[in-house]
Amino acid sequence: MSQRKKIVLIGAGNIGGELAALAARSELGDVWLFDIPDKEGVAKGKALDLEQNGAVLGYDAHIRGTSNWDDLTGADVAIVTAGVPRKPGMSRDDLLSVNLKIIRGVAEQLKSRCPNAFVIVVSNPLDAMVYAMRQGTGFPAERVVGMAGVLDSARFQLFLAREAGVSIKDVRAMVLGGHGDTMVPVTSYCTINGVPVSQLIAADKLAAIIDRTRNGGAEVVKLMGTSAFYAPASSAIAMAKAYLHDEKRLIPCAAFLTGQYGLKDLYIGVPVIIGGKGVEKIIEVALNEAEKAMLAASAAAVRELIEASARL
Ligand SMILES: NC(=O)c1ccc[n+]([C@@H]2O[C@H](COP(=O)([O-])OP(=O)(O)OC[C@H]3O[C@@H](n4cnc5c(N)ncnc54)[C@H](O)[C@@H]3O)[C@@H](O)[C@H]2O)c1
Repeated sequence: MSQRKKIVLIGAGNIGGELAALAARSELGDVWLFDIPDKEGVAKGKALDLEQNGAVLGYDAHIRGTSNWDDLTGADVAIVTAGVPRKPGMSRDDLLSVNLKIIRGVAEQLKSRCPNAFVIVVSNPLDAMVYAMRQGTGFPAERVVGMAGVLDSARFQLFLAREAGVSIKDVRAMVLGGHGDTMVPVTSYCTINGVPVSQLIAADKLAAIIDRTRNGGAEVVKLMGTSAFYAPASSAIAMAKAYLHDEKRLIPCAAFLTGQYGLKDLYIGVPVIIGGKGVEKIIEVALNEAEKAMLAASAAAVRELIEASARL
């Protein structure tokens, strides 16, 4: 008899709560919402609220809150949002020292308790945090991945859809590179159901959309005083589902490069295939000269953060 999958969410804050809601609704498995002892009540309260929600929405999932690492033993998937989010005026990189310490602690626990888990890191600055997670757990690179590209692409898709006056469902877009101001929205692969966006959106409007996409996170932070959480949670759940259901989805994620795109020993956003083995393949797409230069600049920015991490 097969067992229900165990999904552990490290961090029961804004994204953690929404992750639990989405995992339960799509019946991906049973969920543990974990937070520090001071926030155990929040984790338990959200879990109880969401279990009761199952009666109304008709889903069947066990959702529990905890601050005890023992409860997370043997997880199939771990999604990590532990840390602090941005406040208005902050860059993601400003979170480095505080979140690095937290991620290193989480990695140590996951290493011993969840040795077979597929780990999705969400905490910022994303590319440096997922690098630290892999270093700390020692897990194979295909089982440690960062969430950014799905979200950044979703933002790009929305702005393109609104400008072109078409359904968001018909827009395909891809954002590569680091999850920061240097991210690379790849317009050469953006289409509206196969029609290149350059045929439907004027160059100056496209440039403004790229700029808005790069600042998409900051735009929400400025409005709300904290980070976005609905679309970030959906993006991480799409990745978890691709793994649990062996979907072989081709999506942009922060993956560990070993020479692809001329880069190695760093995590950065690239198209990957996620299936039952985790990151099953890194896809090397052809980029034009401008895109290559943007990716190189983005990689240099990520490398700087990794070097800064090594000094902390
Ligand atoms: N990758 C992305 O695209 C993306 C998008 C949005 C936000 N983020 C990042 O995700 C992170 C979480 O955002 P949020 O809005 O959920 O923040 P939040 O403050 O609502 O939740 C974070 C939770 O982590 C908990 N935490 C702190 N230390 C912990 C530890 N050692 N173990 C377990 N839990 C711990 C906190 O108590 C808090 O409840 C932030 O770093 C944010 O910048 C990333």
